[in-house]
Amino acid sequence: MAAQLEVAVVGAGYWGPNLARNFRASEDWKLAAICDLDLERAQRVADGVGGAPVTRDLGEILDDPAIDAVAIATPARTHHPIVLAALESGKHVIVEKPLADTRARGIEMVDRARRNGLVLMADHTYCYTPAVLKIKELVQEGALGEILFVDSVRINLGLIQPDVDVFWDLAPHDLSIMDFVLPEGLDAASVSAHGSDPLHTGRACIGYLAMPLTGGGIAHVHVNWLSPTKIRQMVIGGTKRTLVWDDLNPQQRLSVYDRGVDLALHSKGTADSHAANVSYRLGDTWAPALPEREALAGVAGEFAAAIRERRSPRTSGESGLRVLAVLEAAQASLRNHGSPQPVESGVVAEAVTA
Ligand SMILES: NC(=O)c1ccc[n+]([C@@H]2O[C@H](COP(=O)([O-])OP(=O)(O)OC[C@H]3O[C@@H](n4cnc5c(N)ncnc54)[C@H](O)[C@@H]3O)[C@@H](O)[C@H]2O)c1
Repeated sequence: MAAQLEVAVVGAGYWGPNLARNFRASEDWKLAAICDLDLERAQRVADGVGGAPVTRDLGEILDDPAIDAVAIATPARTHHPIVLAALESGKHVIVEKPLADTRARGIEMVDRARRNGLVLMADHTYCYTPAVLKIKELVQEGALGEILFVDSVRINLGLIQPDVDVFWDLAPHDLSIMDFVLPEGLDAASVSAHGSDPLHTGRACIGYLAMPLTGGGIAHVHVNWLSPTKIRQMVIGGTKRTLVWDDLNPQQRLSVYDRGVDLALHSKGTADSHAANVSYRLGDTWAPALPEREALAGVAGEFAAAIRERRSPRTSGESGLRVLAVLEAAQASLRNHGSPQPVESGVVAEAVTA
């Protein structure tokens, strides 16, 4: 077995403990330290995973030559300075979603990692769940046919974040999943967004985002911190089959409907007059078997493999940038009363000149 890599977790709030637990459980990793500005919090997390050195000083971690990598689970606005400092100290980095709080900062981070020859991975956790891996497989093998629509709902009573609105907090999940499973990835040319802040918190707490997909389909995302009912559902409709992913139904997270609309265009005489012959297919519904596996175990394994194999991880900094590009276009659309706004691309060229 290869020697263990050493990782420090920075940020011991809600999500950091999950990273610490999974690194501790992984054969690939030695959990070298936990860092938080709140030392008691760091200590509690260390105690919860069987002990690890704690510090409130990031510099101590970055100066330690034995530490290979840093996992950053601090609020979004702090990602950019912490990631850059870690990359400048020669550490590989995994950072929580969203990659950064602006696309320009994200580009600088991706560029710095590339220049320094280090791995920068985005923790797009859902891309490592058995359900999403199965969805990707089904889309890839053509089981759904051409994708006609994606409809994603992620709503519950959520914590109103101090630094980002509901789009930047929750939509990275839906967008990173689409980037991972769709044949063309997240390549929407434009985005329209509507948001609302009915409780006057200072940021959108309810958000709707729509984007046309290559080939004429459409994707829609509904994110909401104010819903008393929790829904985590994605519907992916294709020309052959439609898939429903209900992440809150462990008995049947995925359902594949072998039903749909068949459409044959036929001419009604004149060259420009067409009528659609619509027929409905009514077939079976089936539920693919899924293994029970914690996604973060896969995240920890992929991070180690990318470092050892000197390759880009499955959820790379670039995939984080594609998500940020959509979020920024959504932000611009919000300012423009929901009118469609172009999604910036050209990541590589800009990353090199940033
Ligand atoms: N992948 C997922 O499914 C998932 C789920 C939840 C949260 N997240 C992400 O994780 C990140 C953290 O979210 P959270 O809910 O855990 O936040 P949180 O506020 O609960 O915890 C953040 C912690 O970071 C510490 N911190 C802040 N600045 C620091 C610094 N400079 N150095 C050291 N520690 C510092 C704070 O003291 C706090 O303990 C966010 O980016 C969030 O979007 C990801």
